[in-house]
Amino acid sequence: MQIPAVILVGGEGTRLRPLTARTPKPMLPLVDRPLLAFTFEHLRRHGVVRATLSCGYLPTQIREHFGDDADGLALEYCAEDEPLGTGGAIGFAARGIIGSFFALNGDSLRGADLGRLVEFHRDRGAKATILLTPVADPTRYGLVRLRPDGRVASFLEKPRPEEIDTDLINAGVYVLEPEVLEHVPPARAVSIEREVFPRLVEEESLYGLALPGYWLDIGTPESYLAAHRDILERNFPTEVGERLGRDYTYVDPSAEVSADAHLVPPVYVGAGAVIEAGVRVGSLAVIGSGAHVGAGSVVEHAVVQARARVGRDCSITRSFVGEDAELGDGTIVRGLSVIGPGARVGAGNRIDGGLRIAADAVVPPEALSFP
Ligand code: GDD
Ligand code: MG
Repeated sequence: MQIPAVILVGGEGTRLRPLTARTPKPMLPLVDRPLLAFTFEHLRRHGVVRATLSCGYLPTQIREHFGDDADGLALEYCAEDEPLGTGGAIGFAARGIIGSFFALNGDSLRGADLGRLVEFHRDRGAKATILLTPVADPTRYGLVRLRPDGRVASFLEKPRPEEIDTDLINAGVYVLEPEVLEHVPPARAVSIEREVFPRLVEEESLYGLALPGYWLDIGTPESYLAAHRDILERNFPTEVGERLGRDYTYVDPSAEVSADAHLVPPVYVGAGAVIEAGVRVGSLAVIGSGAHVGAGSVVEHAVVQARARVGRDCSITRSFVGEDAELGDGTIVRGLSVIGPGARVGAGNRIDGGLRIAADAVVPPEALSFP
């Protein structure tokens, strides 16, 4: 399918701070690679060979990591000086594209068949077609009400609970004709969801199609943790999930795992990680490359990112320890809490209730506790 793609990767990832303090959301690690790599994999699988990345926040890291080719997907970069909003950014990045193109939010995981979306779009003679997916709580998304023929009757971004009368939402993947960009005024921020889609609804040229397949928006620590779980459990099929094999355990050959440590599947231990004696890692744990877990600690349903150092007898559950962070002995981190990258948390702290420790913060020993 020779349809080019524009991928939006310019957001600040506010709800994932402090993990996004120095890493843009699309570059956050997801098991063994940046989140954005899964979007590339999905596009390639459906025959896309060219993508433009619409960058804003911390663009250099994305470019330095992927360069101009991601395993056969040719990449171009386009950086805004000021955030242009989702519509403005698509307009800016799609200048010069002649035929139909895909536009995608770069912060979700998805498995839907893009070929079927294009087929439906062409069949209906649509100007724009939105991939839809059902979710339990549409309030965080764009609610899409459909007519029986697949035309969108209304599009409501972040609906109020009383407005919800369908579970179908915008999955952040569109097939667009270049004419859509006529609705994007230049030189100011424009939201495709709040400004462009409602105009297309009036014109009756906007369509939506729900397709089967995995879908998850990664916007909060909770959904970021769910993404790790779904890869480890192979609910979302990936190459790294396959590598976990039948026993759902992957230990990189360069990792050092004590014979006296206990790995409970599913579990992933990255390159050069060190797991000391008496440690329990898993279930549902990811230890990033070069991370160190001290003797007697427990890491369960949690992520210890690259090069972080967890002291002895720590307990980390349903939480994140950011890259290069250090936890003193006996620290407890739980309840969807996040230790920012580079933070130094002294011994004996107890961190719970979604607490977030800023990047590079220094927390003295026994400073934080919970009842
Ligand atoms: N280049 C650029 N410039 N990218 C941007 C900008 C911008 O000004 N603003 C947002 N983005 C990117 C983000 O990086 C993200 O990949 C995508 O656009 C969507 O922005 P989010 O801030 O993550 O929006 P959301 O998750 O609240 O809602 C959007 O996604 C939902 C599905 O995940 C909307 O499109 C909803 O309608 C949709 O349901
Ligand atoms: Mg999002």
